Amino acid sequence: MTSADFTGIVDPFFRKQPNPEPKTDQPILPMADLDDIRDGDNFGLNKPADTSSFYLKGLNSMDWGLKNRLSRIFNRKSGRTVMLAFDHGFLMGPTSGLERIDLNIAPLAEHADCLMATRGMLRSCIPADNTKPICLRTDTGTTILTEMNHNVLIDEAEAISMNASAMAAMIAVGDAATEASTIANISRLVDIGQKYSIPVMGVTAVGKDMARDARYFSLASRVCAENGASIVKTYYTEGFENVVACTPVPVVIAGGKKLPELEALELAYNAIQCGAAGVDMGRNVFQSDSPIGMIKAVGGVVHDGLKPQEAFDLYETIKNEG
Ligand code: R5P
Repeated sequence: MTSADFTGIVDPFFRKQPNPEPKTDQPILPMADLDDIRDGDNFGLNKPADTSSFYLKGLNSMDWGLKNRLSRIFNRKSGRTVMLAFDHGFLMGPTSGLERIDLNIAPLAEHADCLMATRGMLRSCIPADNTKPICLRTDTGTTILTEMNHNVLIDEAEAISMNASAMAAMIAVGDAATEASTIANISRLVDIGQKYSIPVMGVTAVGKDMARDARYFSLASRVCAENGASIVKTYYTEGFENVVACTPVPVVIAGGKKLPELEALELAYNAIQCGAAGVDMGRNVFQSDSPIGMIKAVGGVVHDGLKPQEAFDLYETIKNEG
């Protein structure tokens, strides 16, 4: 359709021009420059194309866009990530350390590999010129004041408009009231993620009456992966190597309730030793006496192979520097 279809006036741009007569019997090339077209001579014939696998386990067959987003979250060198989780408020309200996300969390962002949060806190409290990838909390529902885990998904357009590098939703395996609906949520979220190449992180909530052991977390983590999650967030427990082994995509651990700093660093260290691909840690960072010291110490364990005591020393040094 041209502008003439609307106005009857033919825009000069659309007016058919007579073809210029070819000067020779050479074909006319659709390029402005007809001379000095240089032949390529750098074909790297002695270097075969790289056919090695993608650096994150279980994800080599994924789409380019999905891998590209994962590459923003997981450090290329270590293959791991330190995600900073501060989505707790949608369940708990302004819990300790999250009273003022603009003051307490925004300054930590530069030390994290990824920010995990709700759309509300991101839009209100994190500057839009933040360049850290976002793992958007995409399910929401009830709070700690009622029956938990009756979550629904937010609109998929939100994840796109927030430029999310991943979308997170929880499943409550073993909770009779909410298991089916939360697994349906994650399954639907993976459908959306596949459509737009946005990875999904499955978050394993602990169902009521469930033992927090390797058997349970293996089941819950595997259910996330079976339903197409590209990342699984779960909890460290004894026998965690089995949880990691039976989950064919990267596994990160939540920190859980606030622990003394050395214990939290031991938790992260043990998880990494068992094959975890990093942490998605909240309270053990933002409820620490030195959140910046703690996130750097956790980064030392996750990326730099620091032992817990070495990381604790780093934490103490940063804390004492004020
Ligand atoms: C809680 O609803 C969230 O999924 C948290 O992001 C998760 O539990 C990680 O935070 P924390 O290290 O405090 O357990």
